[in-house]
Amino acid sequence: MDMRLFSVEQTQQVAQQLAKLLQLGDCVALSGEMGAGKSTFARALIRALAGDEALDVPSPTFALLQPYDTPVGAVFHYDLWRLSGPDELYELSWDDACEGIMLVEWPERAEELLPEGALHLTFTHGAEEEDRHLTLHGWPDERLAAFMKSSARA
Ligand SMILES: Nc1ncnc2c1ncn2[C@@H]1O[C@H](COP(=O)(O)OP(=O)(O)O)[C@@H](O)[C@H]1O
Ligand SMILES: [Mg+2]
Repeated sequence: MDMRLFSVEQTQQVAQQLAKLLQLGDCVALSGEMGAGKSTFARALIRALAGDEALDVPSPTFALLQPYDTPVGAVFHYDLWRLSGPDELYELSWDDACEGIMLVEWPERAEELLPEGALHLTFTHGAEEEDRHLTLHGWPDERLAAFMKSSARA
């Protein structure tokens, strides 16, 4: 499935809709080139989970992991661009993260350690400055359809 995101605000609204559907044990894999919108999406999602619009959500480019305590449970935001190899994940709370809510930028770097049931979101640039194309796969059809439906109303 796929959708168009015509503005930063629309990307943030879709992230807020996804936040309502996430449960402990879920993993959201965010793919796309630099500047595609992965961190923008993750930031809006984490703020929604935390119930705090002003929460500081730094990009975990150097630490690789930024954890959060939220009312929904523990949230683990990864940016694996600088990961040396999947084994390094065990030093980055990966096992605990698999039982919380995970947001993973550059998920291909986790190789086979990425949870099987992950929702894969891939961002690509469109024709206009704020235009993005988002493709979605990995969740059962029914769950994906619920997300698409709530996003269409956003
Ligand atoms: N529709 C959109 N969705 C997300 N970001 C957008 C959009 N339009 C423009 N942008 C801009 O693109 C940039 C995306 O950066 P970022 O989210 O850090 O990307 P990434 O984490 O994929 O490298 C931000 O400057 C953001 O304001
Ligand atoms: Mg990023």
